[in-house]
Amino acid sequence: MLKTDTSAGAGTEIRPEDGTAGGHKPDDFEQKPSVFQRFRDRFPFLKTRRGIAVVVIVILAIIGGGLAGLAALPSRKKSGSGDVEPITDDAFFYGLSPPVYPSPEIEGLGAWSDALEKAKDMVGKMTIEEKVSLTGGVRSLTGCAGSLPPITRLDFPGMCLHDAGQGLRNTDFVNAYPAGIHVGASWNKALARRRAKAMGSEFRTKGVNVLLGPSIGPMGRVVSGGRNWESFSVDPYLTGVFVRETVGGVQEEGVLTSVKHFIANEQETYRLQKLPREAVSSNIDDKTMHEFYLWPFQDAVLAGSANIMCSYQRINNSYGCQNSKTMNGLLKDELGFQGWVVSDWDAQHAGVAAALAGMDVAMPEPHDYWGDTLVEAVRNGSVPEDRVTDMATRVIASWYHLSQDKDFPPPGIGMPMDVQEPHRIVDARNSSSRGVLREGAVEGHVLVKNSNGALPLREPRLLSVFGYSATSARAMNFIGGGFADPLAFGAYPVDWEEVEAGFTMKENYQDWSSIGLGGTLIAGGGSGAPSSSTLVSPFEAIKAQADEDGTALLWDFKRGDPGVHPASDACLVFGNAWASESYDRPTLYDDYTDGLVLHVASRCNNTIVVLHNAGPRLVDQWIEHRNVTAVIFAHLPGQDSGNALVSILYGRENPSGKLPYTVARNESDYAHMAGPDVLSDDDRVYENFPQSNFSEGVYVDYRHFDRDGIEPRFAFGFGLSYTNFVFDNLTVQTSHNESMAPYPTGPLREGGPRDLWTVLARVSAEVRNIGEVEGYEVAQLYVGIPGGPVRQLRGFDKPFVEAGDSATVEFELTRRDLSVWDVGAQKWHLRNGTYGVWVGSSSRDLPLQDEFAIQN
Ligand code: BGC
Repeated sequence: MLKTDTSAGAGTEIRPEDGTAGGHKPDDFEQKPSVFQRFRDRFPFLKTRRGIAVVVIVILAIIGGGLAGLAALPSRKKSGSGDVEPITDDAFFYGLSPPVYPSPEIEGLGAWSDALEKAKDMVGKMTIEEKVSLTGGVRSLTGCAGSLPPITRLDFPGMCLHDAGQGLRNTDFVNAYPAGIHVGASWNKALARRRAKAMGSEFRTKGVNVLLGPSIGPMGRVVSGGRNWESFSVDPYLTGVFVRETVGGVQEEGVLTSVKHFIANEQETYRLQKLPREAVSSNIDDKTMHEFYLWPFQDAVLAGSANIMCSYQRINNSYGCQNSKTMNGLLKDELGFQGWVVSDWDAQHAGVAAALAGMDVAMPEPHDYWGDTLVEAVRNGSVPEDRVTDMATRVIASWYHLSQDKDFPPPGIGMPMDVQEPHRIVDARNSSSRGVLREGAVEGHVLVKNSNGALPLREPRLLSVFGYSATSARAMNFIGGGFADPLAFGAYPVDWEEVEAGFTMKENYQDWSSIGLGGTLIAGGGSGAPSSSTLVSPFEAIKAQADEDGTALLWDFKRGDPGVHPASDACLVFGNAWASESYDRPTLYDDYTDGLVLHVASRCNNTIVVLHNAGPRLVDQWIEHRNVTAVIFAHLPGQDSGNALVSILYGRENPSGKLPYTVARNESDYAHMAGPDVLSDDDRVYENFPQSNFSEGVYVDYRHFDRDGIEPRFAFGFGLSYTNFVFDNLTVQTSHNESMAPYPTGPLREGGPRDLWTVLARVSAEVRNIGEVEGYEVAQLYVGIPGGPVRQLRGFDKPFVEAGDSATVEFELTRRDLSVWDVGAQKWHLRNGTYGVWVGSSSRDLPLQDEFAIQN
């Protein structure tokens, strides 16, 4: 967990209780590295990549059955009295996550070959101590969340790692970009790319070598997840597209992305170890892993992400940062990942086991697990020196690969430890980013109801504005204390005590709020919260507009039952849905805001509701009220929030966002996934080892609603515009049969076999704007794979269409898009059969339909 406070004054360290030095055994591998070494000496083929692959395949074949289903927990015997005793020994769980050893070495795939040569040269000159110095963070005099030390004699200046995916955290003179969920709601690839480039350039200017993001896990399996807002969407395909654009854009600026949190990190509850309780285990079968959770990470590797962050929780009962199946197996072997795996902050729980399982760097420091202990482990044969050489090589290769050896600002140059102390000002903002800040903020707003022509507003005579969420928080200022500062956690709209209680895992704390009563949200809380230099709140922008139009304004941000002037042309009600890292949301709605909406709606026949929501928010308490005329999910727009909203409210911009998740009518419609997995009284047996069984497989969000025929309140992909679009002229073309072999046969590239990306089918359609105003429409392509979910998103495009005009959208379907994961073959399988194709404006509004067959 977070964070070592390096500021001189505070000096407090917030971290979980560590396990015993030396850590847990890996669940699955006898820690006798000398045996391992003897093995490698005895079987030299194990030193080659092919050898590794053979071993992996053999092991997987043996484990076969275990992978086919959810890793089944062994049954627990009852004690003599009939009571079930809690399990106290982790050994009970050994073997549930398949062992995959040894750790594949960087190979220099594709564009990495030059960088690898240079890295080998530099690392070849290093002592074992120098190599080990690159495997763990050190305290620095900067405000970087993590720092790798320099090796001055070899001209390596070290590296600064810092949060996060929405802009720079906890520093000055930077911009706050729209959050991940807002980008997801924009469905705009080009905009995502521009945002990433703009952020990358700020990180670079500040001397941040590694951007700790984007987050693509949690994806949103747990609807109330505290960190869902950091990620783009609950759909792997949509998330995959945005992670590619983001990795591409940030890395084009020479900054590494640390795509996180690898993997299946889906809830905040029990995310950390608190002995004697271990962190929660996400129990996932191999098919679900590939088709859902690994999918966007595959895109991240395909896009060349030079860093991946392993997660806090356990996967099939093996910790994320010592799990050989996920790091050695999935990431480095199967996906050919060439970069380095960094631990989440203090997510390291073992020394030798973590090294052998493929973790490369421990942050913010390796404590007693590595450092001198790792040197010792190499000397006594517990860890092969090759493994440590590979860790160092991966770090240095990434530094060369991103050209950080040329003209990169000194690490942490613009990152003061405490902005309240005198420091050199490094202004990272660039006027060229203003466009993307504004457009990005606009396009993540999703209009879900608009009756009686409520929006856009037309120079109202009297506007009444209500709700705690219309204004900025009363304070947006550092109060000192570096990483202990509430601002560092974006906690200004809520009580700091809440967020702090989450991070410090305060016993029995229950007072989490569902809303940020302190003001509007532009981000959620925790390490993903950005700093901003300006923040225009909705009310500030409304006031400026009213002033220009001569509109009379009344407001009340204090009361839940405000008075309403009967001549109000419209009543705007602002609420929010707060979420933060370190705890999950208590509910998906809140009675206070719902009461406020109903109160205003009963007095004002043009009530327009704007919710800044850090995740799905239920609206059934009032959505059908006839005086609730318009509703906008405003998500988390970043610093241009107010201006963006007003441009939509007044029709200067046509709303074009679409929901990147489903809004249910009731919490129970999400089945058990509305909330996190918690221990119940029946779970005493697992009270030290909380279990989260992902038994729903890929049937999360709309896949679940479609399969079970549940009517959503607002479907995945839904969003209104001020104009109307129709869809027409669907065409589907498949490629020639030669490329239709059942399995990919191509060589490995970053991301998987090369031919997994071969285009096998093309789809096109026409989008016509039959309304009065120009605007964007998101055309969505869904495919029904035989034997799979009813349909799954497999393409989208967002053309801008003039009123009365039309645009053609084209989609390419790759082998991966059409394949399912074959657990037996351990390959993506292109099945024979009929594939359904749908195109339309949401997952439930799909006017165009066709199908095609695959025979191989
Ligand atoms: C979070 C990461 C973050 C890191 C560094 C951790 O608590 O889980 O997402 O990047 O801290 O601040």
